[in-house]
Formats: sequence, C-alpha cells, structure tokens
Amino acid sequence: MPRIVDWPGRLREMAAFVGLDEDQFELIRATAPVVLERAEELTAAVYDNFLKHPGSRKFFLNEKGEVDETRLDRRKHSLARWLRASIDFKLDEDYPIRALATGIVHSHPPVHRAHLGSIPSRFMIGTMSFTQTALAELLLQEMDDPEAAMRASVAWNKLLMVQLDIMLAGYVTDIPTEPPEGTEEPAEPVDL
Ligand code: HEM
Repeated sequence: MPRIVDWPGRLREMAAFVGLDEDQFELIRATAPVVLERAEELTAAVYDNFLKHPGSRKFFLNEKGEVDETRLDRRKHSLARWLRASIDFKLDEDYPIRALATGIVHSHPPVHRAHLGSIPSRFMIGTMSFTQTALAELLLQEMDDPEAAMRASVAWNKLLMVQLDIMLAGYVTDIPTEPPEGTEEPAEPVDL
C-alpha cells in the first residue's frame, strides 16, 4: 500500500518539535538585509567547499573533467534563490512541496545527470551544517548586538533543520515498527 504523507502537517509537527514559531520567523525576516547583501558571497563559499572535496566536486565537472562554469553559475543562482525563499519561509501548504521537490532533484538524478548517480545524502547534511556556520559568522559580523546575532542564528539553525527533514525524504524511508498486537503497555525488558 502506498503511504500518503501529509507534508504540510509534517512540517508543522517538526517546527513545533524544534520550537520554530512566529517569533523565530520574525528574527529570521529581520536578518534579510544583511543576509541578502552577502548572499552572493555565502553561496560562493558553499560552492568553493563543494569544489574542494572530490566527492562533491564531481557533480560540477564537464566531460573533460573541468569545472563547468556555466552550470556552476546556474547552481549558485538556485542556491541564492533558496536562501531568499528561506527568509520568506511560512508554515503553509506550498513550502514543504518545494522543499520536497528540491530534495528529489538531488536524491533522484534527472536524465542528464543520471550517469553521476544521486548526490550522497551526507553532502546534503554537510551543506546545511556549512550554511548554518557561515550564517552564524555572517550575523555575528554584521549585527551590532552579539546576543541578537546569536538568537537570530539559533532561529536560522532550526529553520534549516526543518527544511532538511523534508529534503531528505527521497533518501530516508521511515519504517516504523508497530507495537505487537494487544500491547498498550511497554513490554517487559528481556534480560539477554
Ligand atoms: C542544503 C543543501 C542544498 C540545497 C538547499 C540545494 C538547492 C538546490 C536548488 C534549489 C536546486 C535547483 C533545483 C531545480 O532546478 O528545481 C539545486 C540543484 C542542484 N544541486 Fe543543490 N542544493 C543543496 C545541496 C547540493 C549538494 C550537496 C550538491 C552536490 C554536491 C548539489 C548539486 C546540485 C546539482 C548538480 C543541481 C542540478 C540538478 C539538475 O541536474 O537539474 N546540491 N540545488
């Protein structure tokens, strides 16, 4: 039986779980001027990091093994677009579907990239970590009040993790184990 997932519901559940609420969205929106001003630099840093590591670099090379600058430029724009959309993040019906589609492009390579296979999920996780760190440094440098920068950074961290949960959907299959029939109480621990 195919499993139907209520993605907007899952997004709301995750947001509640990590404590991503309206106050946090406000903190993220307030960082728009500084983040947007340095968006190009930030996306360039993410791509420099991709190119530094052979496992991620290979996705940006042409047939001759050289960096495909045109494609790289296009990808930088996609990442900058994603960053802008993240600032306008809402717990609505559309956002999780967009995050899902973005994730699927990475986990299920389109025909023109099929020969390279999926982008390994560890690089998706690593990219979120890299972005969180870069944003934290940027906010600390650009905001006058270091405590406000720290609070904004915490809000961004939560947002990126909630997105990552959905973006990994094409990689991770939750296989929950059901409790055995008729057992409401936790089973007695078994001595091994
Ligand atoms: C936080 C993690 C990431 C985000 C948010 C992200 C975002 C995006 C977005 C928005 C697109 C455009 C999708 C579209 O055209 O519909 C894209 C495409 C792409 N990304 Fe990423 N990306 C991430 C990580 C990575 C990593 C780790 C790699 C490789 C090491 C990568 C390689 C690519 C490639 C090759 C494409 C082009 C897909 C195609 O062939 O059409 N991305 N990415």
